[in-house]
This record gives sequence, C-alpha cells and structure tokens, in this order.
Amino acid sequence: MGRKKIGVIGAGFVGATTAQRLAERNYADIVLADVSEFVAEGKALDLRQAGAIVGYDANVTGVTVKDGVGYEAIADADIVVMTAGIVRKPGMSREDLLLTNQKIVGGWAEQIARYAPNAIVVVVTNPVDAMTQWMWHVTRFPARRVIGQAGVLDSARLRAFVAMELGVSVQSVQAIVLGAHGDQMVPLPRYTTVAGVPITELLSEEKIGALVQRTREGGAEIVNLLKTGSAFFAPSAAVVEMIDAIVFDQKKILPCIAYLDGEYGIHGVYAGVPVRLGASGIEEIVQFDLDAAELAALQKSAQAVRALNRVMGI
Ligand code: 2OP
Repeated sequence: MGRKKIGVIGAGFVGATTAQRLAERNYADIVLADVSEFVAEGKALDLRQAGAIVGYDANVTGVTVKDGVGYEAIADADIVVMTAGIVRKPGMSREDLLLTNQKIVGGWAEQIARYAPNAIVVVVTNPVDAMTQWMWHVTRFPARRVIGQAGVLDSARLRAFVAMELGVSVQSVQAIVLGAHGDQMVPLPRYTTVAGVPITELLSEEKIGALVQRTREGGAEIVNLLKTGSAFFAPSAAVVEMIDAIVFDQKKILPCIAYLDGEYGIHGVYAGVPVRLGASGIEEIVQFDLDAAELAALQKSAQAVRALNRVMGI
C-alpha cells in the first residue's frame, strides 16, 4: 500500500492552489494535469521544491495532456479533482460556457473512467451543478463517487460576512448554503449560527437579506475586483475540506452537490444538499427539516440545474 494518489485536473489558480494545499497536508501523491504545454510540469516542480522548506515529501508531478496522450498519469488515482474549464469572457453567454466546459469535462470523464475507475471525483468546473451531473453521466460511476463543490465555498462566504458584520471570529460562525451555485443558491439563515445562536435572533431581517445577497453574488464580487479571473483561495480550501473528509473518513456533514433520487422531493438531478462525507464518498444525503419556502427555493434551484442539463442533451 503506497500513499494515496490524487489527480488534480487543471493547473490554473484553483487547481494549483488545491495541489499546494494537498501537498502541504502530505497525505497523498499528487498529479497535476493541464492542456497548456508544460504549465503543470512547471508548477509541480515548484511545489516539489517548496516541500524542502515547508517540510513535506509528497510526490508532486505535472503532465501535459494532448491528443489522447498523457492521461495515463492519473492511473489508479483514489481521488480526482476536476477544475479544468474556460471562464466566462465578455460577450459569452452562460450556455457558451456550459457547452465548452461540457466538452472539456466529458473528455476528462472518459479518461477518468478508463484510468481511475475506482476514483472519487470532486467537480469544481463551472457551471458546477451541471458539470457534476455530466461527469456522473459520462463516467457512469456510482453517484456517491461523483460530488460537486459549491456549498462549502458559499457557506464559507456567508460565515465570513456574518463574522465581519458582528465582529466575531469566523470560527464561531456556522452556516449552510444549499441549492445551485449561482443566483438560485439557498442560504438558510435559520441554520446560520453564532456560537449556536441563529442569526435570526442577532440581526435584522434587512441585514440578513443583505448578507445573503452578498453571498449569492460572492463569486461575481471577486471576479469584478480581479477582472482577469475568479476566486481561488476559498474555492481550493473548500475542495480540500471535502478531500480531508474522504481521506480521513471523517463523516463530516458538508453541503455538497449530490445526486438526488427523491430526497427533498427532487428526482434525478444534482443539487447542493447536506451530505455525510467519508471514505466511500457520499454516505448519506442528510435531510434537514426545511420549511415550505426553503424547500420551494431548493426545488426551484434544482429546476435551474435541470434546464442546463436539457441544454447539454441529458
Ligand atoms: C466563485 O463562486 C467563480 O464559482 C466561482 O468564486
């Protein structure tokens, strides 16, 4: 039994930062893959050298994949993180992004199914709910092994905003955001707490509304500041919290994009819900007691994912 192996697809900001966080944990060897010639090799070498100073000895290797060559580098990976894809540029519609990334994710899904048939796949590529569904569709893996990342990031954003508003440590704030990653996300103020006290008892309805709205637009706020890219520190931290839960079989309850088969009255579509995450992937969809408005918002969110799935032809 060697060390665990984690494939990180895409050596952009999210992929490279994920590889860094994983290397620093030192529990797995890492293969970083990208289509841009030698970018993954360069970043992997840089990460190897950092290990001498930081104090890890994980093997980090990089590979350029092209014309069907290079994919075997992810052979027998235990976990694969999918970050590759284009980001939206001015003038592009959401559907342009959808169809281009569908091709990228689908191409990789075939290679993952071929070379790493037992892997747990964590999808980050946007639009992430639809891309997770597509990854599952193409790999034909059991749904518990194909998981999307959105809720951990969105919840972290809400936690940060609540902490900033109240002047308390973010460590004292818990939150859970469900639904699709985007306008249709479903933050749950009733389940957002400061040292166990719901924020509905600490902040006005108006203030909570503003924090929720800022959370919904959390990704766009950062895109507008950076101008040339999107967030990566918090997204990669979110991915790695999920991977920790899998590697250490933590049984953590985290909001993740999971395949719903009747839970919350939603059938046959991926959406963000609380799950218990452990060594085998999603071990349980946790059913929160939602009120009528929260449930309706979650179901509406799932409808939005369904609409994208239809555009992808599934
Ligand atoms: C984010 O929310 C762009 O989905 C990315 O930061």
